[in-house]
Amino acid sequence: MALGLSRAAEAGIKLTMREHLEALQAIVAGLGLQEFEQAAKVAHEELGFPKHHQAMQREAGATFPPKYHELAMAHHQEAEDLAKVIPSKDLKTILSKLEKTIGACVSCHQAYKS
Ligand code: HEC
Repeated sequence: MALGLSRAAEAGIKLTMREHLEALQAIVAGLGLQEFEQAAKVAHEELGFPKHHQAMQREAGATFPPKYHELAMAHHQEAEDLAKVIPSKDLKTILSKLEKTIGACVSCHQAYKS
């Protein structure tokens, strides 16, 4: 489904999205280097609820369908859950939460385009 965004809102959303991808890279890099604190910080700040406020500011007052909003919230929640398990240093649990976080990206991309 197309969101039919204005050019400004589309530019804002795409900036956020590219940062999301960079955040995933930083999280995987942090896990590889066993820098768990740093990886948890990125998951919370760059993909969790704090990021939602920044994303909304960039979306130039655009309105989104309720289902889109739900998918966005589910993705922030998955990222917060990921941030919470990273300090356990238990890679099996962490990777399972990371997979769910990426799954939330994929779910929205399968449903919506700009
Ligand atoms: C709630 C919906 C939603 C979620 C969640 C979401 N995205 Fe997106 N994403 C979009 C939409 C809409 C576009 C625009 C697609 C298009 O070009 O039509 C997009 C585009 C992108 C792009 C392309 C950006 C560009 O410059 O064209 C990347 C990269 C991306 N998303 C990464 C991610 C990552 C990584 C996550 C998860 C951490 C994520 N997205 C989660 C909705 C979402």
